[in-house]
Amino acid sequence: MLGAAQGTRIGITGLGVHVPDRVVTNDELAEIVETTDEWIRERTGIRERRIAADDEALTDIALPAARTALEDAGVAADEIDFLVCATVTPDMMFPTSSALLADALGMQKAAAYDLLAGCTGFVYAIAQAYGMLASGLCRRALVVGGDVLSKILDWEDRSTLVLFGDGAGAVVMEPVERGGFLGFELGADGGGGEYLWYPGSGSRHFDDPGSYVKMNGREVFKFATRVMVYSATQVLAECGKTVDDVDVYVPHQANKRIIDYAADKLGIPAEKTIVNVDRYGNTSSGSIPLALAEAREEGRLADGSLVLMTGMGAGLTWGSALMEWTNGRPR
Ligand code: ACO
Repeated sequence: MLGAAQGTRIGITGLGVHVPDRVVTNDELAEIVETTDEWIRERTGIRERRIAADDEALTDIALPAARTALEDAGVAADEIDFLVCATVTPDMMFPTSSALLADALGMQKAAAYDLLAGCTGFVYAIAQAYGMLASGLCRRALVVGGDVLSKILDWEDRSTLVLFGDGAGAVVMEPVERGGFLGFELGADGGGGEYLWYPGSGSRHFDDPGSYVKMNGREVFKFATRVMVYSATQVLAECGKTVDDVDVYVPHQANKRIIDYAADKLGIPAEKTIVNVDRYGNTSSGSIPLALAEAREEGRLADGSLVLMTGMGAGLTWGSALMEWTNGRPR
């Protein structure tokens, strides 16, 4: 899917993030599986990640992010009429985490559902909210992206354990007077689904290989470097922009090498690229909002900045969103 935004301008007016307190370093993982801090840093750029407590589920980390986003936007919970939560680690399949969040936040009028698109979930979810808002079907949306992948990883498998972390983010989206989203590119290739899969998680039962995430890292790496470039190039062209117009590049934080490859191939300099994978690992649907929040905290999101976000992940899926950042909410 490739499309440029038409009609009503829709932007992000509030942003919030939250990560679990517990920091787990590479050295701590080296006590669990056969790996080293050096290997992990060299191959992925990750130094540490946040890991949820035993009794901490997705909504426990998503709720503070959602509250911060609402406060940031100056929007009351009952002003939200659409809530979508992108995650592959909901508290349970149903009730959905979106419905639980809507209830905890006191949203009386909101449609609420979960969205499954692997690590690309947040980009898919903002595209969906954009469509609902631009068409006038809803007035204000809360988009949550988050995962607690630590719960579905095989803690004996070094090839996946070292890559991921837990975290969540949320944005309020609504009509804005200027700027906002310019376009989206989204794609999926189920043919490559077997390279990153969670076989025991649904209605197709497998006796083997069990109930943890499985990954062919080399194939995912090849896929990621291809689609990160393809998707960004497509959305920029569709919106009549070039790479030189991009002020802030917010790639999915899977691996520093993938980010560097994509940025280099696209021609986006390091000073425009947001990187925090070193401190959080790959937080799946939480990754782009966490990076976006960091960009804003560092004062890198000015009014009118052209922001390019690109995600990729299980499915296999990928997606980009291009937007002009606007600070503050029109009243
Ligand atoms: N510590 C030490 N050694 C390891 C580890 C580890 N944690 N993991 C693998 N190795 C070993 C392998 O067994 C292999 O040993 P061998 O040569 O004796 O067989 C060796 O290191 C090299 O393995 P490769 O897989 O070739 O290493 P590579 O350089 O490709 O790096 C990595 C592996 C980091 C997984 C890389 O392929 C990658 O980043 N892939 C993309 C993964 C990704 O981003 N997934 C998330 C997608 S988003 C989502 O939706 C969840």
